[in-house]
Amino acid sequence: MTSLQTPHQVGPGLALPILESRALEAFDARPPGELVTLIASSPLGAVLARFQTERKGEFEWTPTKEGPDIWQVEVFRRKGERGSLRTVNDALSWDHDRLDALEARAFEARGRGDRAEATAVYTVFAFGLRRHIRFEEELLFPEFEAKAGFSSAMGPTAVMRDEHREILECLGRIEGAIGDGASSVDSLRHALHSVLGNHNLKEENVVYPGTDQALTADERDALVARIQAL
Ligand SMILES: [Fe+2]
Ligand SMILES: [Fe+2]
Repeated sequence: MTSLQTPHQVGPGLALPILESRALEAFDARPPGELVTLIASSPLGAVLARFQTERKGEFEWTPTKEGPDIWQVEVFRRKGERGSLRTVNDALSWDHDRLDALEARAFEARGRGDRAEATAVYTVFAFGLRRHIRFEEELLFPEFEAKAGFSSAMGPTAVMRDEHREILECLGRIEGAIGDGASSVDSLRHALHSVLGNHNLKEENVVYPGTDQALTADERDALVARIQAL
């Protein structure tokens, strides 16, 4: 099979063991900076485990749909060396950039009157941002609080959790209106940007590096692996 014939999408309709090996083949055929989309009718945890063992440090794992009928994941090939250890700051700042790009794409589509595309892309953005907030609150912040010595009721993560509520409120309202050409979502979008922009900067300047500093290299890498698996 030449690289031109190698699909960037693997599945649907493949048994999981076949999907696993096809996913690795398709991933290896992509250069850094590109991604492979995996589509299955059941969760892809076994495929993630395989990547974490056999392509360690080389990929970002981004679920974009989770059931009830379809599970879909984007496996992005990064420039990391095989076997290299991940940091929280690197992995989660990358996800901020990915989400920002999706949000911009959705509004570009709305701007040119393509409401179906705007809705479809915003749905992927909203799924990704909700998942991002969930892994921060369930996995990252407790680790930061325990290791850097802050309580969950006070300090940087308490502010981050409050901002997450504001972000989710704006997100839900935009999600329900972006596909309606007659609705005005510009002020909601502005409200989302004004909280999300500073929020992400504070995480990238304080919470992510603070967590990385408080953990050993192996602990950081294990935390990124747990975040991928959430
Ligand atoms: Fe956050
Ligand atoms: Fe974040």
